[in-house]
Amino acid sequence: MEGLRRLEYRGYDSAGVAVLTPNGIASRKKSGKLSNLVAELEASPLPASMTGIGHTRWATHGAPNDTNAHPHLADNGKLAVIHNGIIENFAELKAALLEQGETFLSETDTEVAAALLGGIYRELTAAGDPDPLTNAMRKASQQLEGAFTLLAVHQDSPGVVVAARRNSPLVVGLGDGENFLGSDVSGFIDFTRRAVELGQDQVVTITPDEVVITDFFGAPAEGKEFHVDWDAAAAEKGGYPSFMEKEINDQPDAVGQTLLGRSDAQGRLILDELRIDEAILRSVDKIVVLACGTSAYAGQVAKYAIEHWCRIPTEVELSHEFRYRDPIVNEKTLVVAISQSGETMDTLMAVRYAREQGAKVVAICNTNGSTIPRESDAVLYTHAGPEIAVASTKAFLAQITAAYLLGLYLAQLRGNKYGDEIADVLADLAEMPAKIQNILDNADKVKKLARDMADAKSVLFLGRHVGFPVAMEGALKLKELAYIHAEGFAAGELKHGPIALIEDGQPVVVVVPSPNGRDSLHAKVVSNIQEIRARGAVTIVIAEEGDTSVEAYAEHVFYVPKTPTLLAPLLTTVPLQIFACELASAKGYDVDQPRNLAKSVTVE
Ligand code: G6P
Repeated sequence: MEGLRRLEYRGYDSAGVAVLTPNGIASRKKSGKLSNLVAELEASPLPASMTGIGHTRWATHGAPNDTNAHPHLADNGKLAVIHNGIIENFAELKAALLEQGETFLSETDTEVAAALLGGIYRELTAAGDPDPLTNAMRKASQQLEGAFTLLAVHQDSPGVVVAARRNSPLVVGLGDGENFLGSDVSGFIDFTRRAVELGQDQVVTITPDEVVITDFFGAPAEGKEFHVDWDAAAAEKGGYPSFMEKEINDQPDAVGQTLLGRSDAQGRLILDELRIDEAILRSVDKIVVLACGTSAYAGQVAKYAIEHWCRIPTEVELSHEFRYRDPIVNEKTLVVAISQSGETMDTLMAVRYAREQGAKVVAICNTNGSTIPRESDAVLYTHAGPEIAVASTKAFLAQITAAYLLGLYLAQLRGNKYGDEIADVLADLAEMPAKIQNILDNADKVKKLARDMADAKSVLFLGRHVGFPVAMEGALKLKELAYIHAEGFAAGELKHGPIALIEDGQPVVVVVPSPNGRDSLHAKVVSNIQEIRARGAVTIVIAEEGDTSVEAYAEHVFYVPKTPTLLAPLLTTVPLQIFACELASAKGYDVDQPRNLAKSVTVE
């Protein structure tokens, strides 16, 4: 249950377990959050067992009810299977199995995989196969298309769990007289720090003493062992009421750790991880940033800095849009794939596509040993620590920080910036953790406003330049956490449509650029505030300390410390996160596990 609890962030609409007992498989499953399953197990405990599988679900095929929850049984209840991913050819397989007389209880693709596996298992046993469970898993995997991590236990194979993976994540935990499997290491972090990454299309069989890895055809394969360098406490709430609040408060550290050890005393960047030939990096003529969700907004922020520092045209595209539109990428394109989890299927597929076209891919990723970094040419890890709350906060700031380091590194390598200019930006970056802390220490006013606004029906967010993606991220946080309609707009676009939404009492959050920033952006955004206020908007302004010019036009002003324009998103985002989190908490919502969402979206 503890392992499942740690993995619940991946999906939490139902959960289930199956254990092997001398009298066969015993299973319980329940719709809703894991706590429902825990209650069920208290009411109706399972027999003691040394071998079992468990699952938390994010529904794809069939509603999140008890029947569709995993595990699914086959082979007359002797085989139990759990699954992550989507089996794309499940309809054909199901039709063929129905024809053979199979019956199904659920609407899931998983039950089809279980039935397929069960049928093959029976055939192999009849033929005297010495290891029917492993071999059945290999044969079944050959027939499955799409993305899957499958785990199975069979009543006649005590002490054995067999798993297969294609496109979906799976790691092995190596214990002493015990072994584990998990979608990520947090599932077994209480028991071992030794983990093994599995490759694509591999089958693994674990017993208490052995881990055997092969490909789908039985050829021996090797996984890559790694040490999990964060401890279980890092994945705990540490006294905060929610992971979300803890993670918002972790941000000074997330940024500090991401900067740590990546430059020398002279302010030169050292990115040893960037193992891409320098000649190739010098010849790059386009950067394409690929990501989804909050990570894509981090990319949009980074674009402003990368283009400014490196003079390389930079596009930011949602991974799922990129891949299906015949994009122009070649050997001179540097793709930057940003993903907290390193498992987002859309981003993974986009990375594969870009590499096939000859592009080099640098991943910016938070999760050690995940798939996207493994399949990229190089990886810059964000050292934000485990992010458990489903909606991303500290990973966002760490991603922006890492992308800035990458931009500065390219500028250094290609000679776009003098050494002292780079050293200056690094010095400014080094001050960010303390400035973020300052915002966290003075968050009471934002929190109070959030509570007062708990009944808002819609909130608009405006920003310009780097403040534009910040506005969109602020709106996304409010949608995700508080289920309030929210949109982020480019302030300059206001007159081209969004202003029609303004009516009496409409709350609008405006991210105001620094008055010392570029051109006359500050004045233009201040004019926008006046324009919406004249039409009845309630204006909530995020501005730089000392910028009193906004006070006359704002119902509420929140100040963030002074900082160079390009680095401002590392500060202006923070009050917006606090606002969304506090407002959602005031409404009584679960800020760590908002409805319908999952942290790692491992299906396309
Ligand atoms: C999901 C999460 C978001 C996250 C996005 C991208 O939608 O709920 O918080 O930003 O996936 O995830 P990634 O792991 O690729 O950064």
